[in-house]
Amino acid sequence: MKGIILAGGLGTRLRPCTNVTNKHLLPVYDRPMIYYPIQCLINAGIKDIMIVTGGQFAGDFLKLLGNGKDFGLQHINYTYQEGEGGIAEALSLCEYFATGSPICVVLGDNIIQNNINQAVTDFKNNNSQGAMVLLKEVEDAHRFGVAELKNGIVTNIIEKPKNPPSKFAVTGFYLYDKMVFDYIKQCKRSERGELEITDVNNRYIKEGSLKYSFIDGWWTDAGTFPSLHRASNLVAETGANNL
Ligand code: DAU
Repeated sequence: MKGIILAGGLGTRLRPCTNVTNKHLLPVYDRPMIYYPIQCLINAGIKDIMIVTGGQFAGDFLKLLGNGKDFGLQHINYTYQEGEGGIAEALSLCEYFATGSPICVVLGDNIIQNNINQAVTDFKNNNSQGAMVLLKEVEDAHRFGVAELKNGIVTNIIEKPKNPPSKFAVTGFYLYDKMVFDYIKQCKRSERGELEITDVNNRYIKEGSLKYSFIDGWWTDAGTFPSLHRASNLVAETGANNL
């Protein structure tokens, strides 16, 4: 399985800090945000990693990470997204990297306390077919993609609903088979002008091939000032990903 970290976008919700650096290089407690998704993939046994970045400060990733020596890696792959056309657009840039392999995709601003190892194992045990999303029960579901569940099956995912159908946020950890790239090509841009990962996940639901798992321990994004603050506090209290 190959790993993909999406660290593009312009980080507008973290201005003025993101006027001088990429969002994913800002500190979450004692290290740059991007360290957490990298370590999360490595902890799950995934060492072939692509980082998608963008904006004016893409070169800073190379300065910080190089070939990943600090993580015991010999190589990191990088690619560049122009503009911020959405999570699914950023992922589409990785088709040539995936070369038909199953992939584990992590949003660069998502941080968890523990690991995703069980979900990765379960996906592999299902012959790495279809897709798997990782859910977390939250009190502010309207900020996220939200899963609608009926009889233990995800029947729909709604992106940032005003009236969430459940408290289960779809977190930024996704497992996909090779079909993901075909499904992205069939997506249309949303009202915010993006190719939405939620549309891709709903396509898997339509095909009857989307599974889910729950994240244990805490989960947070870090893409707004309140959530970045929360992420730093959580990491300071408990650590994250064995870091
Ligand atoms: O945090 C989980 C949520 O992330 C999910 O529940 C939502 O379904 C999903 O759409 C996403 O919501 P956000 O609107 O909060 O995502 P955001 O635009 O902040 O992007 C999250 C990461 O994805 C960001 O840190 C970098 C990457 N990204 C985003 C965009 C828009 C890219 O690489 N390229 C992009 O064009």
